[in-house]
Amino acid sequence: MSEAQQSWEEHYGQRDRVWSGRVNVRLAELVEPMTPGRALDLGCGEGADAMWLAEHGWHVTAVDISQTALDRAAADAMARNLADRIDLQRHDLNESFPGGVFKLVSAQFLHSTVPLDRARLLRRAADAVAPGGTLVVVDHGAAPPWASKLDHHHHHHEFPTADEVVLSLNLDNSQWDRARVAAVERDAVGPTGQQAVLTDNVMVLQRR
Ligand SMILES: C[S@@+](CC[C@H](N)C(=O)[O-])C[C@H]1O[C@@H](n2cnc3c(N)ncnc32)[C@H](O)[C@@H]1O
Repeated sequence: MSEAQQSWEEHYGQRDRVWSGRVNVRLAELVEPMTPGRALDLGCGEGADAMWLAEHGWHVTAVDISQTALDRAAADAMARNLADRIDLQRHDLNESFPGGVFKLVSAQFLHSTVPLDRARLLRRAADAVAPGGTLVVVDHGAAPPWASKLDHHHHHHEFPTADEVVLSLNLDNSQWDRARVAAVERDAVGPTGQQAVLTDNVMVLQRR
């Protein structure tokens, strides 16, 4: 097992369930008005976004490095009768990438303290967007106040701006429109109930 996989298996192994199970709000508001098609969810974790997309008519390929997270997503998909709409695939995205092209490619908080070549990975993600399709990347713009105590995956992380991330993709401006590139605040509740305003870097890029 690679260092990256081991690190994420340990992360998911700490608790029965790591994430809230709710869809990421910036993804939901973007996708709700769209006509469903094929979607790719990169770093899907326990599958909350994939489940939401499938419930909204999308056929989803959902990818993560952690088998533990994927097993949880598979159990949920079965329980919610969505298994035929969600193709769960284990990839270390540093090394391999799912095949095909997609109307929607989503990377929500695809951060790692284990080295991850995000620029290369997100360029590959852009290549997987079908003509007329959308790439949506949402990153932490800053560490949540509770991260330093509870979550080593956020602590010590550097947070480039949304503009810097988009620039790192080297996209051909004649082929892509920047529908939204901004830092967006969101109210959030931490693991022990504390309230905070978090900043997310939101990037929505549309392929012509
Ligand atoms: C911060 S979590 C975000 C999970 C989910 N997208 C969400 O918004 O709740 C980052 C996810 O990326 C996955 N990940 C990290 N490095 C990866 C890699 N090299 N290849 C594939 N997945 C990776 C982790 O296992 C984890 O599930």
